[in-house]
Amino acid sequence: MGYIQRAAEKLERLKSGQNINILAIETSCDETSCAVVRNGREALSNVISTQIEVHKKYGGVVPEIASRKHIELIDYVVDESIKEAKVQLKSIDAIAVTMGPGLVGALLVGVSHAKAMAFALEVPLVGVHHIEGHICANYVQHKCMEPPFVCLVASGGHSHLVHVMDYGGYRILGKTRDDAAGEAFDKVARALGLGYPGGPLVEKEAQKGDPEAVDFPRTYLEPGSLDFSFSGLKTAVLNYLNVCRQRGEQVNTADVAASFQNAVVEVLVNKTMTAATKCGAEVVALAGGVASNDRLRKEFESRCADEGFLLKYPSKLLCTDNAAMIGTAGYYRLRRGLLSPMTLNAAASMEIDSY
Ligand code: KG4
Ligand code: ZN
Repeated sequence: MGYIQRAAEKLERLKSGQNINILAIETSCDETSCAVVRNGREALSNVISTQIEVHKKYGGVVPEIASRKHIELIDYVVDESIKEAKVQLKSIDAIAVTMGPGLVGALLVGVSHAKAMAFALEVPLVGVHHIEGHICANYVQHKCMEPPFVCLVASGGHSHLVHVMDYGGYRILGKTRDDAAGEAFDKVARALGLGYPGGPLVEKEAQKGDPEAVDFPRTYLEPGSLDFSFSGLKTAVLNYLNVCRQRGEQVNTADVAASFQNAVVEVLVNKTMTAATKCGAEVVALAGGVASNDRLRKEFESRCADEGFLLKYPSKLLCTDNAAMIGTAGYYRLRRGLLSPMTLNAAASMEIDSY
């Protein structure tokens, strides 16, 4: 019996079976990660090897270097993940992998490794959308959480507002028209000389500053729009710094960081609350690297409490890139009988699809 028949047989067990172990791989950017996820909710392991130190000296991720590092690390990370999960290879029921969007060379390392493992173990393979993975990080954190809810996904590459109507039922309410929220944090951090990755460094600096010190613009776009735009805010920060420097004025880095963060948080929170109200949602969820920002979390906590929404967000580890979230997203796809062919390819950009 060939691979396709074996995988199809195993998919049948997976659709209704108990104790389903999915091995998941994530290599879309600068984290090499592998996890073993049981029944879509329990991360038996979630090994993350970050390349931050490698890319730091360039001030951002260098795609070519990221791909090479993934190749160096993937075997080790997968082995660690299996050991930590205390499972045997023969009890892995399927392989899930991020297929896009992301850096295509980096994605290809994960996709190739996943295909090889699925073929060798004769188990189903499933390609996962990275943003769907971020949303599903909430399911790993909150074991009883179920759709529907409205989710803000704010990461380095994406700012999306998604109405999650069901497992696999996604309606995009809005997204960024230019820079993503995390990208704006990274660019402002660089301009302030804080380093990479920018988000946590801006947040730390902002703790010492006055969020009202500089009145940076908030972009809401046309009335009713749930799209985002952060490039105007980023440019306003750069212009402010240039003017200060030209005038020979000392820049208060902490005030600039706090005022910038305040502007990003205000727009993210206001648009998300409008989206939740429009959809009649009861639950607001956060996801993506920017969702690990404490100022953002606090603002959401107070607004959700005032306006009667239940707020959910993953731990900081599950907000940034990790493979457990991919395992969960893959689990729900496989439960619906969706598996990917061995011709699965990586895609630098792709829309999130409902199933
Ligand atoms: O989700 P993620 O790990 O990777 C992508 O899919 O892009 O998000 C990384 C992004 C980076 O832009 C980083 O600066 C931002 O999330 N980030 C933060 C914080 N931690 C990470 N932004 C604001 N505050 C933070 N604490
Ligand atoms: Zn991500």
